[in-house]
Amino acid sequence: MKKRIAVLRGDGVGKEVTKGAIEVLKAIAEQYNHEFTFQHALIGGVAIDTEGTPLPAETLEVCKQSDAVLLGAVGGPKWDKNPPHLRPEKGLLQIRKALNLYANVRPVTCFNSLLDASPLKHEVIENADFVIVRELTGGLYFGKPSGRTIEDGEEAAVDTLSYKRSEMKRIIEKAFDMAMSRKKKVTSVDKANVLESSRMWREVAEEVAVDYPDVSLEHMLVDNAAMQLIRNPRQFDVIVTENMFGDILSDEASMLTGSLGMLPSASLSTDGPSLFEPIHGSAPDIAGKDIANPIATILSAAMLLRLSFGLEEEARAVEKAVDEVLAAGHRTADITDSLQRAISTTEMVGKIKEALVEDGAISNIMSAYA
Ligand code: IPM
Ligand code: MG
Repeated sequence: MKKRIAVLRGDGVGKEVTKGAIEVLKAIAEQYNHEFTFQHALIGGVAIDTEGTPLPAETLEVCKQSDAVLLGAVGGPKWDKNPPHLRPEKGLLQIRKALNLYANVRPVTCFNSLLDASPLKHEVIENADFVIVRELTGGLYFGKPSGRTIEDGEEAAVDTLSYKRSEMKRIIEKAFDMAMSRKKKVTSVDKANVLESSRMWREVAEEVAVDYPDVSLEHMLVDNAAMQLIRNPRQFDVIVTENMFGDILSDEASMLTGSLGMLPSASLSTDGPSLFEPIHGSAPDIAGKDIANPIATILSAAMLLRLSFGLEEEARAVEKAVDEVLAAGHRTADITDSLQRAISTTEMVGKIKEALVEDGAISNIMSAYA
């Protein structure tokens, strides 16, 4: 199979972790006889510095010409004081909108070998396995008006939470489709006791549920959901929610797996190429030190193989290699309490490449999410 992958390394640890994921993808290509080509383009702070904009037109073009996009992370203190349109994060929001990446899929799987890395008790997290389906191109991140204004003669700031019915419907349908190949349960998370957008979201969820008689739907208020994720994460199968609630809940959920450095994500497009990125940020404090955990990006590459290229066996080979390496006790600094024994980013990537096996044995570490 011949495929083109656009690589947007971005800022901070983004460079290091995408390098690792590319190495793993190259190893897979060699092992399974595929031809993957990688085209690099700029996004985020590095794009601001060299091109004067966080998402250059050329970058968008490279992405549109590709079969899938792999992204590292954007942002850093250097650009924190920039005006809103010159912030690295703006590039990420623009690319999500421009490529119609409406569905952000964030699987939360607790590796048994990592139970000790989580601050939560074994019995709470063991076998937790759910997926957060986060709406990605609407809500507070994109609503208008947004900006500074004057209220009662003094400065005020406004952000707007707005969704069209069609936008709610397509993301909720995505969640139900996913539930069909999983445990057939959808938890729709909202704040319907306060927000009108949430009340409509509930209505739409009820309407969609009619077409999926085998899937059970429950509604949960977002504050309760934040608590339930810690109290009993095993109760969840597919969580669907609006953009900002999903952003917050997925960072929280990552701690069940031991580290933000473990969680991959896919941002699925309505029409063009999809984008794959770790849920973590650019971690400027550890950037360039070769100590970042590359696993979230490597697992994102596995999602890319599965969801964009339909390469299920190859995706599982990557996930299995990660599982084996963790089971063998190899840890980057974020998932070990014994820093002396922590291995570097480069070493972790090397271990995962070594563990890639050709037998294609089915690993059950990740449930279906598409
Ligand atoms: C994420 C990140 C982004 C978001 C930031 C960097 C804009 O936190 O992908 O979760 O809020 O969506
Ligand atoms: Mg986030």
